[in-house]
Amino acid sequence: MYPKWQYNEMNHVGVDYTDKYEVEAYDLRMSKLRNISKETDEIIDLVGLKRDHVLLEFGTGTGDFAIQVADHCMKVYAVDISQTMLKFAKQKVQNKGLNNIECCHGGFLTYQHKGVPLDVVVSQLALHHLPDFWKMVALKRIYSMLKKGGIFYLRDTVYSFDVNNYEDIFNTWLSGIKQTAGEELAKDSEIAIRDEFSTCDWIMEGLIKRAGFEIKITDYHQEVLAVYVCIKR
Ligand SMILES: C[S@@+](CC[C@H](N)C(=O)[O-])C[C@H]1O[C@@H](n2cnc3c(N)ncnc32)[C@H](O)[C@@H]1O
Repeated sequence: MYPKWQYNEMNHVGVDYTDKYEVEAYDLRMSKLRNISKETDEIIDLVGLKRDHVLLEFGTGTGDFAIQVADHCMKVYAVDISQTMLKFAKQKVQNKGLNNIECCHGGFLTYQHKGVPLDVVVSQLALHHLPDFWKMVALKRIYSMLKKGGIFYLRDTVYSFDVNNYEDIFNTWLSGIKQTAGEELAKDSEIAIRDEFSTCDWIMEGLIKRAGFEIKITDYHQEVLAVYVCIKR
């Protein structure tokens, strides 16, 4: 039981990832749009993943990263608040016959880690589902789950543009998505801008540092996406 004042992360905001058809469509779109194995190789390199490492992913979605990374480390915890996403991911894990991935229902604010302290935590395109104060709480929880020297890799929508230009930036971003990825993803992105909680670069950097991390790498893309590689000293 959580206090009544705690942010209820199980109430999905924005795009509805409890909907089976939305989840299937998301998986299909991402498989066409992204090169997950290249992304995974880049992350493995950035976090210095080793065979004996234990990794946890928050917001695992349909499980592609967890599945790809499982060949390169000892154990993967794949955590998500959406049972629909997890069911989809579990099926993929089963089809691949992988036995070092544990799919866990939970989120940034509610997952209770019972295993050994983690070597690496990864989260992609998920933290913006929490309002800023709760992002801070989430980051502190991640910090406490990692061992000393552990690495946190965060990739998320983060705004690094001049706020005076937000209308132009959002319109250009959305029309770019429409052209390259189609109407459906553009609609989801509209929902994400309106209803989810992507924040500014200077706020995100402040939150990460105040959680205790040292930021080793900061990489901003198109003024709307960011990658942070952080270390627990
Ligand atoms: C846009 S999808 C990203 C999925 C995957 N990481 C990827 O890169 O394709 C966002 C995921 O975050 C999950 N999510 C939303 N809020 C969350 C929370 N508070 N804790 C953990 N996962 C959350 C959603 O259920 C969804 O699976």
